Amino acid sequence: MYAQEVKSTGKPVKSLEEMAPEERAFQQKIDADVKIEPKDWMPEGYRKTLIRQISQHAHSEIVGQLPEGNWITRAPTLERKAILLAKVQDEAGHGLYLYCAAETLGISRDQMTEQLLSGKAKYSSIFNYPTLTWADIGAIGWLVDGAAIMNQVPLQRCSYGPYARAMIRICKEESFHQRQGYDIMMKLCRGTPEQKEMAQDALDRWWRPALMMFGPPDDQSVHSAQSMAWKIKLNSNDELRQKFVDQTVPQAEYLGLKIPDPDLKWNEARGHYDFGELDWSEFYEVIKGNGPCNRERMEARRKAWEDGAWFREGLMAHARKKEARRMAAE
Ligand code: ACO
Repeated sequence: MYAQEVKSTGKPVKSLEEMAPEERAFQQKIDADVKIEPKDWMPEGYRKTLIRQISQHAHSEIVGQLPEGNWITRAPTLERKAILLAKVQDEAGHGLYLYCAAETLGISRDQMTEQLLSGKAKYSSIFNYPTLTWADIGAIGWLVDGAAIMNQVPLQRCSYGPYARAMIRICKEESFHQRQGYDIMMKLCRGTPEQKEMAQDALDRWWRPALMMFGPPDDQSVHSAQSMAWKIKLNSNDELRQKFVDQTVPQAEYLGLKIPDPDLKWNEARGHYDFGELDWSEFYEVIKGNGPCNRERMEARRKAWEDGAWFREGLMAHARKKEARRMAAE
């Protein structure tokens, strides 16, 4: 199985012979591409891994609204403002589908939010970088949503039914997001020299963080081997990163922009671009909470949660009243 070839630092993946009968039947279902549904038996590790990944994905969609929301009031035209508003609202919708998918595994949305606010659950490293100019909105759509699509298209075929189905709609919307980002970059690159410079500056700042979105190199990835055996992940981190580089370099060339990597070059023998080492110490600092905007992002989420307390209480009071009325009528 390919999963076992991935060099991962996690626990070794059990072979079918080492599994108890229930677990073996479960793995055989996965190997035969049968979807796992919420009421099916599943190993505790499968359930926990899915909750971790889906909730982290949901938190990323929600936190991801913040850097772009920063530009809604400053979008250069009414049309750009309407497009950006729609995109940011889509991200909120993605977060909601994903929270619902995770809830089918026996965790509540409140618990997931508490895990985010306590620092137990992560969200994507990329959203801890600031959006300094309008070109950053183009770079996010082009590179960040582009990387998200690269990662999420295969997840439409993942083994857990509710996650796979949520991904179908999410990927359709992400394609529009990627296209709008590239369109912003095209306009800037065909504009004045200052506008083109702004686009290059955004690419210079977002390129490496975008490559890090795919996660640590395979030999440092704790979860890849087991997650791939369970088809919670369908490709390894390095595999997707390479695919993204190969796809994006020609797009940068079309824009007339230069990828900020002196080691980037086409390798005819491999049939792929070679690219320079990434600074993984920066990645680990960012996911530990020490990126440029981590504190600001968490404060915004905490404030939203606290400000929404009266609304959640109101909803619960309404639900309790409705339930009491229903019971009285029975
Ligand atoms: N940002 C923050 N944390 C990360 C990132 C990242 N870009 N990449 C990896 N990590 C974390 C993992 O969560 C894990 O930490 P944990 O054990 O505390 O959860 C640790 O680094 C080791 O990484 P891996 O073993 O490689 O983790 P995993 O197998 O979960 O792979 C990946 C990471 C590729 C992000 C995977 O979880 C995934 O595909 N998730 C679904 C897609 C997603 O979440 N996208 C969000 C981004 S973008 C967007 O939605 C717009």
